[in-house]
Amino acid sequence: MTPSPSLAQSLHFWARNASNESALLQASLRLGLFDALPVDGAAEPVSLESLARTLGASPRGLRSLLELLVCMGLAVQEGQDAGRRFALARTTAGFLRDAAFTARLQAELPWWAPMGLLDEAVKRGEPVEHGGQRWDVLGHYRALFLDAPGAGASPEAEDFFDRFARSAARTQLLVTAGRLGLLELLATAPRTMPELGAATYLTTAGLRVVVEVLARLGITREEGGAWGLSPEARQLLEGKALAYLVRSLSVSAQYWEALGRLDETVRHEHFVLDLKDPEVSRRFYADNSNQITAVFASHFQLSRRAATTLAQARPLEGAAVLDIGTGSGVWGAAFARATPTTHVTYFDQAVVLEQVRRNTESLKVADRARFWPGDLFTQDFGAAAFDVIILPQVLNVLRPEALPGIFSRVARALRPDGVLLIAEYVLDERRDGPLDHLYFGLRRFMTNEGDLLSASEYGRLLADVGLTSTVCIPLPTQEMILASRPGVALPTRLAPADSVPRQESARRA
Ligand SMILES: C[S@@+](CC[C@H](N)C(=O)[O-])C[C@H]1O[C@@H](n2cnc3c(N)ncnc32)[C@H](O)[C@@H]1O
Repeated sequence: MTPSPSLAQSLHFWARNASNESALLQASLRLGLFDALPVDGAAEPVSLESLARTLGASPRGLRSLLELLVCMGLAVQEGQDAGRRFALARTTAGFLRDAAFTARLQAELPWWAPMGLLDEAVKRGEPVEHGGQRWDVLGHYRALFLDAPGAGASPEAEDFFDRFARSAARTQLLVTAGRLGLLELLATAPRTMPELGAATYLTTAGLRVVVEVLARLGITREEGGAWGLSPEARQLLEGKALAYLVRSLSVSAQYWEALGRLDETVRHEHFVLDLKDPEVSRRFYADNSNQITAVFASHFQLSRRAATTLAQARPLEGAAVLDIGTGSGVWGAAFARATPTTHVTYFDQAVVLEQVRRNTESLKVADRARFWPGDLFTQDFGAAAFDVIILPQVLNVLRPEALPGIFSRVARALRPDGVLLIAEYVLDERRDGPLDHLYFGLRRFMTNEGDLLSASEYGRLLADVGLTSTVCIPLPTQEMILASRPGVALPTRLAPADSVPRQESARRA
């Protein structure tokens, strides 16, 4: 038996991926994907293209669902690359061919948009209006989490139902509790229900549902009539951790509507949250950039370790480094701190570079910094101008067809013995994991951004532009691909954490 997850793991999942999980399963049902897949062992598996034709859906969209279903064990995959074939796992087929069970699933589908109005329901303590109807969202939460369960189906089917209906409901509950300031309030001191009501101006009916469902999740606890955080949650949400959780919930909330309409995006590539639209992108990244700044210290540790790793094979003294899509500047700055003579060019949109300038000043590397505003989709980066070029978490914003173009511009800009460093979420060779990476990839697809690739998929694209030598080195939370022309020394494994010079240790920019 797999051990049940700790509250820390659960909170991480609810904040980031639980709504993706429900959306994946609900979109698959709406699209007819479960019916279109042959059952494993009973019929021949089918290719992605053939499924896409049957369902009239985008192959890329369908692939982002199927790879997740395979990773979760709900579907199976045979073969690799273009020869991949898919089928429905026998257990999944067992419960999804049960009409009473699928009727229960179908009944959940209309609740996605009304659940997005949970904060309104909590404020009013009564049903909310949506699409000309009234929806008892609080009653729905009670039915999902608080009422005694009925007879139920098999454990596998009940687990599927939980992921299908309750996963997203958990995310939305936390989003609401964060947005209404309830999590902060519960963290300060235990309060009775009337005290909570007086402090928040929320209805008791609404508050009661939220704190009781939070109790079912192990986050709150009642003692002597007063509600507060559970001891485990209190420990986890100490210090800056609560603010960090609330910020990541706010990022997840931005995807809610698009996740509820994921089937439309998979069918027609109609992007409900289109980050290629400059206005949408500006609003989205304004929120996201708070998050990027909040994680600067932990990313800096990671990028410094990557710089130390590369420096062990290829000295960085006097090196000219280009950091494309620099964001907070966390990667370029790590290379600037690697030696006192490394020069770094930080490339991003002009508006982003203001913050980078401040960060390089507080890290005392501004005297060796150059700021280059531009558009990475079209910018010519010059010829043989850099020893190291970094593409940190930026390729995933480019649609797949744009990758050969940026790789050829980057290869041209590298000196003959230069090294390209890509930091990305790299998929397993079968493209069926890791799960967190696949969820990240689903969000990139649904926002009209890029694809995640496996190491050999990167290798093939890089070989096409002459960077035939590549290695993939896992970092603690993502992967690093290093690429060069033949004959350039590349490291093969990550430098130990204690090899990063101490005086350079991470500090908040
Ligand atoms: C996901 S962030 C990565 C930030 C940083 N490299 C890191 O690892 O934290 C992607 C960055 O690419 C930048 N970006 C996106 N589209 C761009 C474009 N067309 N031209 C220049 N920069 C762009 C964004 O402004 C953002 O800073």
